[in-house]
Amino acid sequence: MSFPYRVVAVTGASSGLGAEMARQLAGAGCKVALMARSTDKLAALATELGPNALALPCDVDDFAQVRAAVARAESELGPVECMIANAGIGQKLAPGPWDPAVPEQILRTNVQGMVHALYAVLPGMQARGRGHLVGVSSMASYQGLPLDGGYAASKAAQRVFLEGLRVQLRGTGIAVTCLCPGFVRTPMTDKNDFDMPFLLEADAAARRMLHAIARKRRVFNFPRRLAALVWLGQRTPRWLFDAVLARMGNRPTRRTQAYSHPRP
Ligand SMILES: NC(=O)c1ccc[n+]([C@@H]2O[C@H](COP(=O)([O-])OP(=O)(O)OC[C@H]3O[C@@H](n4cnc5c(N)ncnc54)[C@H](OP(=O)(O)O)[C@@H]3O)[C@@H](O)[C@H]2O)c1
Repeated sequence: MSFPYRVVAVTGASSGLGAEMARQLAGAGCKVALMARSTDKLAALATELGPNALALPCDVDDFAQVRAAVARAESELGPVECMIANAGIGQKLAPGPWDPAVPEQILRTNVQGMVHALYAVLPGMQARGRGHLVGVSSMASYQGLPLDGGYAASKAAQRVFLEGLRVQLRGTGIAVTCLCPGFVRTPMTDKNDFDMPFLLEADAAARRMLHAIARKRRVFNFPRRLAALVWLGQRTPRWLFDAVLARMGNRPTRRTQAYSHPRP
């Protein structure tokens, strides 16, 4: 794989899609800044990838930590030409009904965490007149889902945020890409106990994501068959769609039985 940027930062690089993208970027000869909270996992990945990878432990919830990590990346590897804001947390049901801390944390990490990563590199990119900002949203961004604790809402917020930023940065030399994967086998989805249609392996998904970035895609929805299903769902009358989703999504699973919200 060839990639058009020499220095790339990846948040959420300690696991799943982030780790896989980092591996493939290093394989393509890029210098990679690895960002996540798990110091041990980042150090192990940096060792695996060799001298072109730098472990930069940080929490994307905290802008100061992200800025410090980017500053270190830029002093040791060179200016970050591409930031892949991939860190995210999934559906977590609180051990109690209607706990606002659940959506609050999901929105903070997924939405504000992405903004922190992008804004930490934006001034440098603007000064150089080139760069590429990437956010990892999801096919879930197109549909509110029952019992997901605000995950779909956070992914929709990311996608819409990136859309506005893309237009705002038009003509500045800074590209913006929104990646919307369907189901991918990673630690985030390993805990799902429902059928995941068109499930992709992480290496295949990462390859497609990097290809979409290299091609400067504005929005990349994949896999195509799931995107087609979502497209159809969006065009189904709401009364019918709600009835189907309620049958599928509100059925308690082994995992949600203990925590499911009371029905009004
Ligand atoms: N897997 C899927 O089916 C799928 C589908 C669509 C979209 N996505 C999106 O793809 C992205 C990666 O997900 P994944 O499936 O690879 O999940 P994952 O294996 O659970 O990886 C999530 C990564 O985010 C990092 N992270 C979480 N909170 C963080 C924080 N506060 N600060 C810094 N890093 C943090 C984690 O590292 P630490 O815990 O070490 O901090 C980890 O490296 C997410 O944005 C997810 O929403 C995944």
